[in-house]
Amino acid sequence: MELKRDVPVFRPWIPSKLPSLPLLLMLVLSLCLFSPTKCLDLDPDDKSSLLCFNSSVQDPNRSFATWVGSNCTNWTGISCENRTGRVVSVNLANMNLSGKVLPCLCNLSFLEYLNLSVNNFNGTIPTCFGSLASLKTIDLSHNSFSGVLPDNITRLGQLRELFLNGNRQLGGDLPWWIGNFSSNLEKLDLSSNSFNGEMPDSLFHLKSLRHLDLGDNYISGNVHEFYQSLEFLSLASNKLFGTLPCFSASTKSLTVLTLANNSLVGGIPTCIASLEALAHLNLSFNHLSYGISPRLVFTEKLLVLDLSFNDLSGPLPGKIAEATEKSGLVLLDLSHNRFSGKIPLKITELKSLQALFLSHNLLTGEIPARIGNLTYLQVVDLSHNSLSGSIPLDIVGCFQLLALILNNNNLSGEIQPELDALDSLKILDVSHNKISGEIPLTLAGLKSLEVVDLSSNNLSGTLNDAITKWLNLKYLSLAHNKFSGNLPSWLFTFEAIQVIDFSGNKFSGFIPDGNFNISFRNNNGISKIPGSICW
Ligand SMILES: *[C@@H]1O[C@H](CO)[C@@H](O)[C@H](O)[C@H]1NC(C)=O
Ligand SMILES: *[C@@H]1O[C@H](CO)[C@@H](O)[C@H](O)[C@H]1NC(C)=O
Ligand SMILES: *[C@@H]1O[C@H](CO)[C@@H](O)[C@H](O)[C@H]1NC(C)=O
Ligand SMILES: *[C@@H]1O[C@H](CO)[C@@H](O)[C@H](O)[C@H]1NC(C)=O
Ligand SMILES: *[C@@H]1O[C@H](CO)[C@@H](O)[C@H](O)[C@H]1NC(C)=O
Ligand SMILES: *[C@@H]1O[C@H](CO)[C@@H](O)[C@H](O)[C@H]1NC(C)=O
Ligand SMILES: *[C@@H]1O[C@H](CO)[C@@H](O)[C@H](O)[C@H]1NC(C)=O
Ligand SMILES: *[C@@H]1O[C@H](CO)[C@@H](O)[C@H](O)[C@H]1NC(C)=O
Ligand SMILES: *[C@@H]1O[C@H](CO)[C@@H](O)[C@H](O)[C@H]1NC(C)=O
Ligand SMILES: *[C@@H]1O[C@H](CO)[C@@H](O)[C@H](O)[C@H]1NC(C)=O
Ligand SMILES: *[C@@H]1O[C@H](CO)[C@@H](O)[C@H](O)[C@H]1NC(C)=O
Ligand SMILES: *[C@@H]1O[C@H](CO)[C@@H](O)[C@H](O)[C@H]1NC(C)=O
Repeated sequence: MELKRDVPVFRPWIPSKLPSLPLLLMLVLSLCLFSPTKCLDLDPDDKSSLLCFNSSVQDPNRSFATWVGSNCTNWTGISCENRTGRVVSVNLANMNLSGKVLPCLCNLSFLEYLNLSVNNFNGTIPTCFGSLASLKTIDLSHNSFSGVLPDNITRLGQLRELFLNGNRQLGGDLPWWIGNFSSNLEKLDLSSNSFNGEMPDSLFHLKSLRHLDLGDNYISGNVHEFYQSLEFLSLASNKLFGTLPCFSASTKSLTVLTLANNSLVGGIPTCIASLEALAHLNLSFNHLSYGISPRLVFTEKLLVLDLSFNDLSGPLPGKIAEATEKSGLVLLDLSHNRFSGKIPLKITELKSLQALFLSHNLLTGEIPARIGNLTYLQVVDLSHNSLSGSIPLDIVGCFQLLALILNNNNLSGEIQPELDALDSLKILDVSHNKISGEIPLTLAGLKSLEVVDLSSNNLSGTLNDAITKWLNLKYLSLAHNKFSGNLPSWLFTFEAIQVIDFSGNKFSGFIPDGNFNISFRNNNGISKIPGSICW
């Protein structure tokens, strides 16, 4: 048993005629190699540091019940160097722990990995963390740490990753020294904290930095050019202003760039499209203006482009990716701007598109029939524009469609019976258009429908059996049309239904009681059954 422990214990007893210390060391080490588990005894100093740390921690789930004896493998969340028994890793993430982190944790002088994320630790981050010289990773994210950052964490020369995100009470001025880490720091996540002030100069120069997330704080000042090759940059949801820089030091590396929800102004410079690795660009919720240059053409690597909620104007960008047919674009959101003109046919060549949001613009013309070429499309929102013509039949090509949202346009024509090919559809909103005719019987095939809004059109006829098949229906509005005839009783037997609006039609009949919101205002000849909740 004694042999398991570290060498110094034996040192006093080594008589001079025995093999030299190096030889003995080798002997001990080789024993360990043959029987490695025998060497996993927890170093006694580290053990007392851990027990001291435990003394201020509430552990309702009793995760530390295994912290007995000195077999390191048994200690939940603890890993030891397998020859010395020194603690190298403390991973207590997501264990419902709370309380204060005592400085005795800093006595684990060989600690390389510390993960306390997703708990409820509170108090300040101990300043002594700066003495844990071997630390490579610190993850204190999603706790209740408060106060300011201790400046001596910049002394951690081996530190590669520092995650402090999701501690709402942690903040103050973003420290001037935050970029003064050693040349090993690659990831810095301070998102969803309460930092304010401007980004200090040191940050733009921290050479080793690859991943920087300062999102969701109160950081102000101009967005600035960074001088290192970043791969991930999020400054979203802050108070930044100024115009977009080119991020030219990251031309080959930047894959994610999000500056959403700030106060950026000016146009989108075409240099943004020369970010060769860019996969995810989110500039939504800013005050970006002007038209989009035809030279703003991204590589096929771009997967997500979100420019929504800005003041962009002019025609929609035609060519978004260099080789459109190879484009990997999955999400395109240009909604809530002032784009005008027609929907360009090039958009229908973005084969991999799964979500297309063009709503709340000034678009005119017809919905291009070729939209049906987008066979991966799941969500289309073209609402709140001035689109005209009828809903193109070719849209049945988008057979994976979950949501078709076309409300508040000038669409006319009839609902085509062939639309029953869209059997994944859950949301259909064509309200506030000029659609006429009846609801085709074939639409019985749309069994997945949950939300149907056909209100404020010129639809007419009686309610046929199609609707009886929409068993998952939660919301149905046929308001402000010219529907007539008896109210179908089956409607009120649907399990999921929550809202029915039939107002402003010519229905007649009885309304039963039910657990739903129901409106039948302005229908001729409707009687209320006592206890029902109509108007
Ligand atoms: C001890 O550490 C070495 C090197 O890190 C590793 O290869 C070996 O599997 C470890 N042995 C045990 C028993 O964990
Ligand atoms: C330590 O615990 C592990 C896991 O319970 C076990 O496999 C190993 O044999 C134990 N070692 C000793 C020396 O008790
Ligand atoms: C931590 O180390 C200091 C000195 O380095 C010592 O005084 C203290 O007792 C140690 N605490 C524990 C819990 O081991
Ligand atoms: C941890 O501390 C609590 C008291 O705070 C104590 O009840 C428990 O036994 C301690 N756990 C260990 C493993 O020492
Ligand atoms: C380690 O835990 C196992 C069961 O999980 C137990 O049988 C064994 O006695 C423990 N070893 C020590 C050294 O406490
Ligand atoms: C910390 O643990 C959590 C939960 O297991 C994990 O998601 C996270 O990636 C870990 N952090 C680091 C830096 O390894
Ligand atoms: C804590 O224990 C409760 C009940 O035993 C369990 O539902 C919960 O998932 C546990 N939480 C964690 C973080 O392990
Ligand atoms: C965390 O522990 C508390 C008791 O302190 C318990 O009420 C709660 O359910 C636990 N939460 C989780 C997610 O385990
Ligand atoms: C930490 O949480 C405990 C228990 O909820 C509370 O008593 C204590 O005041 C908190 N400490 C700080 C610094 O917020
Ligand atoms: C860290 O800084 C604090 C003061 O900010 C100081 O008291 C402490 O000794 C420093 N610790 C280390 C390990 O440098
Ligand atoms: C911190 O970084 C800035 C900018 O890189 C540098 O000018 C300054 O000398 C650094 N300070 C320290 C104390 O390392
Ligand atoms: C796109 O759709 C049009 C008509 O809707 C069709 O003529 C054309 O062949 C389709 N292109 C591809 C690549 O599927």
